[in-house]
Amino acid sequence: MNSPALEAHIDLSAVAHNIDILRSHTTAQVMAVVKADGYGHGAVQVARAALAAGAAELGVATIDEALAVRRDGVSAPILAWLHSRGSDFAGAIAADVQVGVSSPRQLDAVVAAARVVGQSASVTVKIDTGLARNGVAPAEWDEIAAGLAKAVAEQSIVLRGAMTHLVRGDEPQHPENDLQARRFDEAVADLVRVGARPQVQHIANSAATLMRPDLARDLVRPGIAVYGRSPAPEYGDFGLVPVMTLSAEVLSVKKIKAGQGVSYSHTWVAPRDTTVALLPAGYADGVPRLVSNQLRVHINGHGFPGVGRVCMDQMVVDVGPDGGGVAEGDRAILFGTGAGGGPTALDWAEAIGSIDYEIVSGIRGRTIRTYSSEPVGTPDTRPRSTHDIGAT
Ligand SMILES: Cc1ncc(COP(=O)(O)O)c(C=O)c1O
Repeated sequence: MNSPALEAHIDLSAVAHNIDILRSHTTAQVMAVVKADGYGHGAVQVARAALAAGAAELGVATIDEALAVRRDGVSAPILAWLHSRGSDFAGAIAADVQVGVSSPRQLDAVVAAARVVGQSASVTVKIDTGLARNGVAPAEWDEIAAGLAKAVAEQSIVLRGAMTHLVRGDEPQHPENDLQARRFDEAVADLVRVGARPQVQHIANSAATLMRPDLARDLVRPGIAVYGRSPAPEYGDFGLVPVMTLSAEVLSVKKIKAGQGVSYSHTWVAPRDTTVALLPAGYADGVPRLVSNQLRVHINGHGFPGVGRVCMDQMVVDVGPDGGGVAEGDRAILFGTGAGGGPTALDWAEAIGSIDYEIVSGIRGRTIRTYSSEPVGTPDTRPRSTHDIGAT
């Protein structure tokens, strides 16, 4: 079967491997975070692979994301923690989706929805211990603690959990981590005091799971490490294997003369007679325009520079005066595992001053996702199933 012109290949055996690595760092249960469509890898496929490999629960941002996973038949415990006033709390309760609450108003809405559904809501209180983002603000803590106790007593909710999210998990020795853990422990003690003991507690993201096992509590909530990306590249790769390989078909190969500019505004001008190859990948597919003239792709195991502006649909690679043995129909690896010195999503991230979370979760447009669960490292021979990102 021909590979799609632009393919994000998702190696589910790498997901399993990464879950193994995470589990080897902790005695806590793993809640695999599959928000943002599994960081751009496909939430349902990654969820199934992670659960099969021993993850106990799933985490997502929104109730819609959780319901989509449920619709695809995944029945494992799942928690959604980012809500708007229009969020479907009743739908979440009916579908056995745990709701993370971040304010007394949200708790009221969940309690009201539980009454309508006629079923207790499973609630996790999300405590802001310093991130100043989502989570119960310190000023509202006493109010929500009392509200949780009342709702538990009335049986409109079950307090499944208490959670917080770290500011500097990727700086394991930073005192902020300990400060947040202390604030979290104090908040949990308050809950116990008012008669609302959470069944489980969780703090750790990928970085803390791998580098601060003392913060693990009952569950850990890794996201990026599930996808094989180091949460703190300066501390190493932890043996994780990148799950997504982005590759494109070489659409055309042509000779150009020295002095010929390439792509819009001729930001790159051929310094010698050379050969350029055209790839069907552009910023509408998630290749940042800012990586123009900074990318390196691998074709047939050799590295070649991307040249000229990345356009909406296309980019150009300089394959050298002799054409580098590159032919139309060959495949260019834009990023992947990094095996054999190949390009990685981290290379892209570093080129644009970002993190690889943004690169992988931003792959979109005409990209077709394919999946395999064969051993890592045999990218061209694996059986594939397809999923059109543009169609979701
Ligand atoms: C609340 C929460 N928990 C866990 C994670 C997973 O973090 P990471 O991908 O760094 O492991 C995220 C991601 O941003 C999050 O928002």
